[in-house]
Amino acid sequence: MTASSAPTPPALALARVTVWELAPHSGRRLPILTDVSWDVGAGEQWAVLGPNGAGKSTLLDIAAGMRHPSGGTVDILGERVGHVDLRELRECIGHVDAKTEEAFSPRRTALEVVLTGVTGTIQVLGERIGGAERERAASLLTQFGCAAVAGHSFAACSQGERRRVLLARALMRRPPLLLLDEPADGLDLPGREALLAAVASLAAGRPVPAVVTVTHHLEELPASTTHALLLKSGRVVACGVAPEVLADEPLSACFGVPVTVARAGGRGSARATPRW
Ligand SMILES: Nc1ncnc2c1ncn2[C@@H]1O[C@H](COP(=O)(O)OP(=O)(O)OP(=O)(O)O)[C@@H](O)[C@H]1O
Ligand SMILES: [Mg+2]
Repeated sequence: MTASSAPTPPALALARVTVWELAPHSGRRLPILTDVSWDVGAGEQWAVLGPNGAGKSTLLDIAAGMRHPSGGTVDILGERVGHVDLRELRECIGHVDAKTEEAFSPRRTALEVVLTGVTGTIQVLGERIGGAERERAASLLTQFGCAAVAGHSFAACSQGERRRVLLARALMRRPPLLLLDEPADGLDLPGREALLAAVASLAAGRPVPAVVTVTHHLEELPASTTHALLLKSGRVVACGVAPEVLADEPLSACFGVPVTVARAGGRGSARATPRW
């Protein structure tokens, strides 16, 4: 990884990224992301929004080094995907998403799942886990209100508990890049506020990690959000500073229905006119 005396590289630099899949019968290329260029500076706090199927989770998979682009270039924390050991890189990335949640064996306890955050793997690599790691895992579980389920089977935890456990896992290594795909999914109101408080406290600390949050709800974005990207049909339709992008006009254009944004205490909420 980059030497500490070197200037901090951007967290993400995507240039003209395309992703396509082959249609099962016709063999035609189905575009998922088209010509996406996106720079996330170190410490920036991004929101990504767009309709269902717009390509948000695919974009986060690319940003996490979980998926290779079909075209274009991807630099993660200054390292070019295709020229770097992705296992090493993933140790520097906290990633919360539904696919990771499904990947764990039902035998794993909640504590073990948090401990896999040390290596960014699905397996528990015991040789990398010592007392300090166990202490941090326990403290993060407490922070997210899950101390009582530490020894429970992860699979038996409720949806919201599993999400909290994954958040604790993502923070284990104090990663410089945190990717959250609908992190508040299934969280109750106090759980959502604990998540937002945790992200806001990261933004107030030093060094500040870059955070990308994919969400459908402005209410689920921390007040610390600095930038936003809107995706529609796999293309970027708006990208820039949050107050300009998370506004009525760009959101209405992105979702294809009139959207009205309200703000209070640095947080946003939105209402849309139904399409059907
Ligand atoms: N492996 C794949 N094969 C075929 N199509 C795929 C594949 N992965 C994603 N897609 C398609 O690409 C599109 C974008 O998917 P993606 O999951 O990135 O959307 P999203 O914006 O995260 O949607 P949501 O808001 O519903 O989570 C969808 O139409 C999806 O069906
Ligand atoms: Mg998604």
